[in-house]
Amino acid sequence: MKTIVLNGEDKNDIETAAKAIASGDVVAIPTETVYGLGANALSENAVNEIFNVKGRPADNPLIVHIADIEDAKKLWVDIPKNAYKLAGKFWPGPLTIICKKSDSVPLVTSGGLDSIGVRIPADKIALSIIEKSGCAIAAPSANISGRPSPTRVVDVIDDLNNKVPFIVDGGDCDIGVESTVLTLLTDPPRILRPGRVTKEEIEEVIGEVIVDRAVVKKPKEGEIVRSPGVLYKHYSPKTPLIAISGSDERFIEFINRQSEDIAAICFTSDIEKLNCKTIDLGDKSDNFEIAKRLYTSLRTLDELCVLKGYIRISNDEGIGLAIKNRLLRAVSFEVIYV
Ligand code: TXA
Ligand code: MG
Repeated sequence: MKTIVLNGEDKNDIETAAKAIASGDVVAIPTETVYGLGANALSENAVNEIFNVKGRPADNPLIVHIADIEDAKKLWVDIPKNAYKLAGKFWPGPLTIICKKSDSVPLVTSGGLDSIGVRIPADKIALSIIEKSGCAIAAPSANISGRPSPTRVVDVIDDLNNKVPFIVDGGDCDIGVESTVLTLLTDPPRILRPGRVTKEEIEEVIGEVIVDRAVVKKPKEGEIVRSPGVLYKHYSPKTPLIAISGSDERFIEFINRQSEDIAAICFTSDIEKLNCKTIDLGDKSDNFEIAKRLYTSLRTLDELCVLKGYIRISNDEGIGLAIKNRLLRAVSFEVIYV
């Protein structure tokens, strides 16, 4: 199959992408978080093709993207008031809400679960494709399973060229890490994956929520896992990567002591003090910038062809918890405290 890259700014190209999805194809589309690999959420065949293309384990549920809150009523049953309150506040935007699924959602889409995660994305191109296709669109991140999520069209092309008929170019994603995933099926509601929408922001709308232990801890053997995604190796570059936690001075001292051919994914202010190859994560105090550069940095590491990479852990403030969550998985929880 030859992949055609469509221009997200072009009306005809949007039409082409929407028609392809309506006819059962899998199409990579931009969203404000990361690029998604979209297909008709209610078609078993189309959804199966998403799993095939990504090489995704069948028990890992997909998120369904809609353009109008009314459509959520067809996908969910027993909808709690909190779902409407949260949707009213955060949609369109990077919050995925999990409720009980209706019979119209095939089990392949929900990874065999009786729940389904739904969101209205804020990206204009994504919204027009959803509207024009007339479909609810199931879309995981548009990477091959295990790889860092794609935040630029080149990343999607690297992973999916000739595996899908169309990739829609929407430029770089604004946020750079995936949506916050919140389940309303537990009491109190629980954040299964942190993102741009924080615990504190959610609590202002619905009261107490908790952050699932698996967000920053390696799941213990036999532990109940509420989000199957946490079990799999994720976001990893091909180059061995270890996270470093510690002060500026200790980090620099540690890196400059290494004799191998390494690269450091670090803050802008570290760069001039380091003797090795570096990748700029951004300003130490700007977690939005770091979030936006995280996955690109992981992909750039592989281009440097070094033996090993080290990445600095940023603080937990705001979107920082999402950065830490992805980073810990990218290094398979291997952290050196200096
Ligand atoms: O920002 C995003 O959420 C992006 C864009 C494309 O919208 N999508 C995305 O999808 O990140 P994906 O499939 O790469 O990640 C979805 C995560 C997985 O860890 C999955 O296990 C979890 O959400 N998840 C989805 N539905 C769930 C459900 N019903 N119950 C528990 N976990 C669920
Ligand atoms: Mg993903």
